[in-house]
Amino acid sequence: EKGGYKHFMAKEIAEQPVVLADALRHYLPATGLNLPADLDFSNIDRIILIACGTAHYACAVAKYWFEEFARIPCEIDVASEFRYREPPLSERSLAIFVSQSGETADTLAALRYCSENVAKTVAVVNVPSSSIAREADIALPILAGVEVGVASTKAFTAQLLVLAVMALQAGRDRGQIDDATLAAHTEALRSLPGLLNQAMGLSEPIAKLAESLAEAQDILFLGRGPMYPLALEGALKLKEISYIHAEGYASGELKHGPIALIDRSVPVIVMAPHDRLFDKTVSNMQEVMARHGMVLLASDAKGLSVAGDGTWATLQMPEIAEPFAPILYAIPAQLLAYHTAVAKGTDVDQPRNLAKSVTVE
Ligand code: M6R
Repeated sequence: EKGGYKHFMAKEIAEQPVVLADALRHYLPATGLNLPADLDFSNIDRIILIACGTAHYACAVAKYWFEEFARIPCEIDVASEFRYREPPLSERSLAIFVSQSGETADTLAALRYCSENVAKTVAVVNVPSSSIAREADIALPILAGVEVGVASTKAFTAQLLVLAVMALQAGRDRGQIDDATLAAHTEALRSLPGLLNQAMGLSEPIAKLAESLAEAQDILFLGRGPMYPLALEGALKLKEISYIHAEGYASGELKHGPIALIDRSVPVIVMAPHDRLFDKTVSNMQEVMARHGMVLLASDAKGLSVAGDGTWATLQMPEIAEPFAPILYAIPAQLLAYHTAVAKGTDVDQPRNLAKSVTVE
């Protein structure tokens, strides 16, 4: 059932253009945003996004979208912290729980903690019959199909797509997004399957780079804006399956500590589309280069023409509308982890010490 791929993870990475096309057909048909009518963002004053692991990083990206498109305060937390912190809740909050399995114990407990005390609970899940889907007021399936690899890949990008549609809906419900911007964002989301397909073409060059990455003891990922959570996700994916120590940082945090780690042996993976903040990220990257760190820059043609010189390696990505770059750059992040793990010979689909579904806390 691996469909000719060596691992489920490789198959699931490759499936993403089709998965997103399916989710787009459902959530963004020709008639426009398609979410349940009882999902209304107009009378709330706060959004809370709760999840664990990769699903938490999807929430962290979505925070940028809800704030930008809908101008609504949005907080994120990992479920294990949220549930025991017992935060004060309000009836004007909307709480969103994101989980591939729908069975993650901490996320379920956080949902139960919220259920009587917020305006509405929404589950964004892959398994529609799961506990989290059943217990939430509204369940939105991400339609990714069964995900077997312990490292979550297609569920992540499908979660992002559903959250992006929700954020656009929130912008519309709250009168914060004009028709032209909404149309442009909608079109950008619809272009994703094609762009993801193009990015899949990087698999071979990434496999070559992975031979060097597999030698590293530590690897850093840097990103800014909505690419910051993607840097965290890239690092999680890599450590999870290759067992190489990796950390993601907001680019601007580099000089507040992590730059002390940089020397010739430390690869620094910079995920930076040519966006509003590109110059700032480039200056952080140059600080790494001045200390002889091995910079791998993933950017578009424009970004690479400005900043590609002197890096250890570059990956040329297709251009994408700024807010949605994390969905596209998930592909090289996943492929870097995958090929590095393959180069190291680890058990990609069943990494040590990990379970696909974490049903105990
Ligand atoms: O099933 P869930 O989405 O609730 O799982 C959450 C995490 O356990 C999961 O994303 C984990 O971090 C993955 N192994 C990451 O690849």
